[in-house]
Amino acid sequence: MEIKRNVLLNPGPATTTDTVKLAQVVPDICPREEEFGAVMEFISKGLTEFVGSLQEYTTVLFGGSGTAAVEAMISSVVGEGTLVIINNGAYGKRMCEIAEAYDISFIEFKSSNVEAINLSKLEEIIKNQGGKVTHLAVVHHETTTGLLNDIKSLGELCRQQGIEMLVDAMSSYAGIPIDMKDMNISYLASSSNKCIQGMAGISFVVANIRSLINIKNNKPRNLYLNLYKQYEYFIKNYQMRFTPPVQVLYALKQAIVETQKETIEERHKRYVKSCDTLLEGLDRLNLTYLVKPECHSKLITSIIEPENPKYNFDDMHDYLYDRGFTIYPGKISSANTFRIANIGQIDYKDMENFIKALEEYLNRKTC
Ligand SMILES: Cc1ncc(COP(=O)(O)O)c(C=O)c1O
Repeated sequence: MEIKRNVLLNPGPATTTDTVKLAQVVPDICPREEEFGAVMEFISKGLTEFVGSLQEYTTVLFGGSGTAAVEAMISSVVGEGTLVIINNGAYGKRMCEIAEAYDISFIEFKSSNVEAINLSKLEEIIKNQGGKVTHLAVVHHETTTGLLNDIKSLGELCRQQGIEMLVDAMSSYAGIPIDMKDMNISYLASSSNKCIQGMAGISFVVANIRSLINIKNNKPRNLYLNLYKQYEYFIKNYQMRFTPPVQVLYALKQAIVETQKETIEERHKRYVKSCDTLLEGLDRLNLTYLVKPECHSKLITSIIEPENPKYNFDDMHDYLYDRGFTIYPGKISSANTFRIANIGQIDYKDMENFIKALEEYLNRKTC
């Protein structure tokens, strides 16, 4: 079957392989059958093994977009203590909104959305709470700008302070190597449709099993999104408590197989090569980007809008869309930007073609 290939340069859902797309075409099956339980067991274990050992970590699956996993993590994990949330972009801000909605005691630590976090300032704030802080939450890769937070150093700070770290790794998981034990991450949230290169519809939390068992007696604030209950139910028979998105799970299984084959290290190299191709092209077109090179994820680039009278974002979007490239607007108020992601099943040749199309757009004749 011929499927039109679109190059998605938006920050997820990302371009997928045809084999992932076609894996969704399966005989109808009741998800309560053992045969389907085996699919979910494979998925849960496969997702865990990309970031930790099965002896120490487990993956809890939910039907839902990525925010569901972040919400499940925050609303289930934090008990009576205080959560410090690093806000250096829209997704850090969203974690604050979640904490507020569930009436969780939290402190918002605001930080620049283009520069590294000031760790000593953060440490001081944690210490000043006189032992009340029990958890720290951070976005690994702020999709808002393409800023990569140094979670290894943050994990070390958490180790020293005796608190647990919750990481929203939505747009970094499977695109950047992560070792939960080495980085001291207790909980990590992600979804099926970004660097793992599956379809949208599954969100998941990879959790340290010991930490998860410790939240068993937390007073529940939630029902569908209860992390411990979902885990407890799942390990008995590899079933979700509520109806799962069946076909999306088959696609995710295939995406995991393809990720295992490519390896996350090689995928990361492919992504970086695409980004380097993009940055060279931007240089040639005299375009600049927002995030400092030392904190740039090389998965998403926020490009400063050109001061070219022929430039208009909506126009440019349509011009590129007609040529098979989907781009995305910026998401910060302090600068006029648009964003180019280089995640998904694309490579540097797609970036070369994109740069050519962008150049044509910026140099086109207008009347
Ligand atoms: C870092 C981060 N967190 C959370 C989300 C929310 O995911 P969703 O839109 O799938 O709910 C996104 C989406 O792009 C993200 O990039």
